[in-house]
Parts: sequence; structure tokens; C-alpha cells
Amino acid sequence: MNKQVDVVVIGAGAAGMMCAATAAKRGKRVVLIDHASKLAEKIRISGGGRCNFTNLQAGPANFLSENPHFCKSALSRYTPQDFLALLQRYRVAWHEKHKGQLFCDSSAEDIIQVLKSECDAAKVQWRMPCSVSGVEQLPERGFLVKTSQGELVTESVVIASGGLSIPKIGATDFAHQIARQFQLKMVEPRPALVPLTFDAQSWAPFIPLAGISLEVDIATGDKKQKMQFREDLLFTHRGLSGPAVLQISSFWQPGTAIRINLLPEVDLAEELLVGKNSSKKNLVNFLAQYLPARLADGLLQAHGFDGAAKLAEMQDKRLRLLGEKLNRWELIPSGSEGYKKAEVTRGGVDTRELSQQTMMVTKVPGLYFIGEAMDVTGWLGGYNFQWAWASGFAAGSSV
Ligand code: FDA
Repeated sequence: MNKQVDVVVIGAGAAGMMCAATAAKRGKRVVLIDHASKLAEKIRISGGGRCNFTNLQAGPANFLSENPHFCKSALSRYTPQDFLALLQRYRVAWHEKHKGQLFCDSSAEDIIQVLKSECDAAKVQWRMPCSVSGVEQLPERGFLVKTSQGELVTESVVIASGGLSIPKIGATDFAHQIARQFQLKMVEPRPALVPLTFDAQSWAPFIPLAGISLEVDIATGDKKQKMQFREDLLFTHRGLSGPAVLQISSFWQPGTAIRINLLPEVDLAEELLVGKNSSKKNLVNFLAQYLPARLADGLLQAHGFDGAAKLAEMQDKRLRLLGEKLNRWELIPSGSEGYKKAEVTRGGVDTRELSQQTMMVTKVPGLYFIGEAMDVTGWLGGYNFQWAWASGFAAGSSV
């Protein structure tokens, strides 16, 4: 016989657990399904193991979507302070690191345990590991959910199976399959918050810089739609990474350039021209006043300058060119490291198909999407978890 429940949530990650606990606290009979054997791996590995679980400054401006107003309602009804109040009840210690980013003092496991305890206290029924082979809409109302642990008949189904990033810890395109099955529009998915790569030949001169990190200004887009961040950049063997590059990757359009100011506080051409008249230094020693010596040396070589050349003997034109290369380095990535390294997926289920109050598909009553599965993508810095909590809470309050 089929088991009758009120809500089936598919995906026991950040959004799924928040939704299941919220609904079960309202007295709903909730089944929470996940195909993984280990709970919430993405939370576990997040924030370098300490989970950047929210951002004090989180607001609609920190999210990308083709429907930018969609996230407003849910974000205003479940705020970073609401999540902090939850952590307070479980005495989870946390700290602010940088620009409003909040991390666990101890480990991301604290966040998993809080959410699991909330689900257990509200009597959520776990099915894990358990796979779902079909979700069928029933003729009158509700759905039949076919799983490896039997069939469930339910009023509501919440798809909380996340995005495509990091397939080796269980990411799948389940949400996109369900969207296709119910003929919902999609916004083309793409890896985001991801390191950028360059073709092997053009990157070869920069390989010796791998491992070096520094604070930069990074920008992409034209005057009308320019995005800019000041964050740390990291040179890698295949290209560029670090928070600066992850942030800009979400806005970067393939085929276009990114612009990097390696010395945001210094007008280098100006300094070089003044230095030419007063300094006996060679180029590399002069630059080492502003940059780590290894980076100064590597950048000069990569851009075709002789580090041993005396500043005083150089042409103004060459010094201006060097200033330009370091203050306004323009380069066109050939691609990204893809879903195997991306922190999130941009795009997903088109939010114009969903109610912004409840996350329910407007043309399929009882079907909901939450979290990263839909076209709402946060900046780096705790915003994606805040969206998982807020959208999970919105759906959990409505199912
Ligand atoms: P999430 O991915 O958390 O959960 C989806 C669940 O669905 C998983 O448990 C999965 O096993 C399950 N599932 C998938 N397919 C299924 C299927 N077919 N059947 C059944 N179950 C299925 N964000 C942030 O705000 N701060 C941070 O510090 C970080 N750090 C970070 C580091 C790294 C390395 C990554 C990859 C990502 C981050 N993120 C982050 C992003 C953040 O982890 C992400 O946005 C949220 O986990 C999304 O929450 P969801 O619940 O939507 O999906």
C-alpha cells in the first residue's frame, strides 16, 4: 500500500532540511529524501570546513537572477538574524571574518547538527540513502513519488536537490529533469563562483607565479553593466582563482575580457616616471616596493620587461606601458574550471514560473523548488546559504 504523507522534500541539503523542519513544526507529515549516504556534504565542505553560513549584509542586490526582484520577499521574511537566533538556541559559536561573512568557530558540522536536530525534533521522517525514480502528478490532486524505499502519495513535493556543482559529492540535474517533465522554463545553467582558465600558450609565462595571492580590483562588463570587486586574487597553474576571480566569474560572459588592477592604491605609471628621475634602482627592485619580489619579477618577465634594466635609462613610453599592464591588466579567459570546481550553478528553474511568496510552481499546485535549483545565485560570502534558508523557510511555511 502507498504511504500517505503531506510533504515530500527531495534533497536533504541546506534548503531541504530548513524546509522539512519548518513544515513539520507546523504539524505536517514530512518525508525528507536524499540519495547520498552522508548527510549534507556541501555544508560540510563549505567555507573551508567552517561554513560561511550567512552574511550580515545579505540583500537582494547580492543575488544574480534574470528576475532580480524575485528573491526580495523570501529574504525579507527569513533574515540572517533569524538564522543567528536559531544558532543561539543550540549555542553554536561563530565569528565575523570579512565584509559581514559569518563562519562557525568550530566546524561546519555544527550547522548540519542544528538542522538535523530541528528535523528530528519536529518528527521529519528520513529516507536516506534513497533514490527517486519518478514524480507523477495525480489526476485529482497531489503526487505519487516512486522511491527505492517504496511509493509515497503526497499533497506537496519540494525539489531541493541543488545545482550541478561538485558531482563527485552527489550533485545531479534532478531538479532540471523535473522542470523539463513539468514543462517549466529554464535559465541556461552555468558554473559560477569558479576559477577561470586561459589557453595553455598564453598562460605559460604566468605559471611560475602559481600560489601567489594579492588584493586586487577586478572588473568585467561595459560601462552600463560593470561589476567590480576588491578581493584577493590567486595565481594558479591553469589560470586565476581566489575570491576576486570567483566573484567576477559569476558575471563574466564567455569571450569577453576581465580587467585587473594589481595595485589598486598606486598609480604605477606616475610612480615609475617620478622614480625615473630620483631612483637608482632597477625595475624589479623598484616594483618590489609595491609587490612581493617574486611577483614583481614574474610579472616583469611575463609582460616582456627586463627586470635588471635601470629605471633611469628607460623610455617614458615603456614605463607608461608597464603601468598600464599592472594597473589595467586586461585578459580574456578561455573558460572556467567547470562544475568540478564551481561553488554554485548560475541559472536553473526560471523563477518567473514560481510564486515569490511560497516558491510554488504557479501552474502546478503543490510542486515547489527551493535553494540552488532555481535561477537565484548569490555572491561569494554566505549569500547562497542565506538563500537556501530563506527559500526553504518560505516553502516550508506554505506547503
Ligand atoms: P545542496 O547542494 O546543499 O543540497 C542538495 C541535496 O540534494 C544534496 O544533499 C544531494 O545529495 C541531494 N540530491 C541531489 N540530487 C538528488 C537526487 N537525484 N535524489 C535525491 N537527492 C538528491 N555557500 C555559502 O553561502 N557559503 C559558503 O561558505 C559556501 N561554500 C561552498 C564551498 C563549496 C566547495 C561548494 C561546492 C559550495 C559552497 N557554497 C557556499 C554554496 C552552497 O553550498 C550551496 O549554494 C547550498 O548548499 C545550496 O543548498 P541546496 O540545499 O539548494 O543544495
